[in-house]
Amino acid sequence: MKGLILSGGKGTRLRPITHTSAKQLVPVANKPVLFYGIEAMAEAGIEQVGIIIAPETGDEIRAAAGDGSQFGVSITYVEQDEPGGLAHASLTAEEYLDGEPFVMYLGDNLLQGGITDLVESFRASAPDALILLTPVDDPENYGVAELDAGRVVRLVEKPPQPATNLALVGVYMFTAGIHDAARAIERSARGELEITDAIQHLVDEGRRVEPHVVRGWWKDTGRLEDMLEANRLVLDRIEPRIDGELVDAQCDGRVIVEQGAVLERTTVRGPAVIGAGARLTDAYIGPYTSIGEDCVITGAEVEHSILLAGSKVANLAGRMESSLLGRNVTISRSERQPRAYRFMVGDNSEIGIL
Ligand code: G1P
Repeated sequence: MKGLILSGGKGTRLRPITHTSAKQLVPVANKPVLFYGIEAMAEAGIEQVGIIIAPETGDEIRAAAGDGSQFGVSITYVEQDEPGGLAHASLTAEEYLDGEPFVMYLGDNLLQGGITDLVESFRASAPDALILLTPVDDPENYGVAELDAGRVVRLVEKPPQPATNLALVGVYMFTAGIHDAARAIERSARGELEITDAIQHLVDEGRRVEPHVVRGWWKDTGRLEDMLEANRLVLDRIEPRIDGELVDAQCDGRVIVEQGAVLERTTVRGPAVIGAGARLTDAYIGPYTSIGEDCVITGAEVEHSILLAGSKVANLAGRMESSLLGRNVTISRSERQPRAYRFMVGDNSEIGIL
């Protein structure tokens, strides 16, 4: 069995972060979302992983995941020259997959508990496809499944009036028959070959499509609120570890302080992770915060936030919360006259002030 991780896409809902970086590389608990998927494959014993990349962000993905040796897998990159949808992506990878069954995993998805059990049940019952489902509050934003007596009878992509609340999770298991199904369908209203339609085609042909309802949590990290929630869910399970230096500083609860980080007159209340080389001085870091490598926080309070590498926060009068800062962002209060807000902000940014 091979793995296929989809790591193209534009990430429009995470702009401006995704103007300069792939959405799959935005970190959750200081680790790119994509790595969780690769690790899940490795854990399930999948040794060959194909990653679908887009021309715009492919180099960055390659640079981050490399040949896969850091995860114990072998990675092959397959370029998808147009954002033609998930079924189009599986066709793009047809040659790489070479007739083998495969797990398809959306590179911006996080699935608690990995995929080992799923791979085993797929091997054991050998259906044509196995889909993962989970109840959600907003099924109209997902592919939605209808079941009957434990079988999948209908799948609709983002139906305005969903028949059930069972959303398709972005992890699928297929046999090679999915390629013919992908060739048989038409493009959807959004101009894509939808994997949901390809699976419906399998159902229509009388193939066996098995549902599996996910028990643990699952997150599609497409939007800021989802990123923050994924960050909370992962941080809730970290093993505390202090490898950095604490000078008159205190860490309560689940806190990781990486090597080379220096915390001075600072309190960190976990769950939180402080990246390598970060410098925190006269600061308070509240629960559910991930501070990236080499960030500098001075005289400020940060909570329930994700800061990417190299960002600086200084001398804020109020606490910063529920925020996502890209790389090398600076937020500070200055005493310079005239006293005014001074911004240099990229496209599609959002700033809320006190
Ligand atoms: C895609 C699929 C959808 C699925 C979702 C899971 O949606 O088309 O069926 O429920 O992933 O994350 P998209 O992210 O392309 O809107």
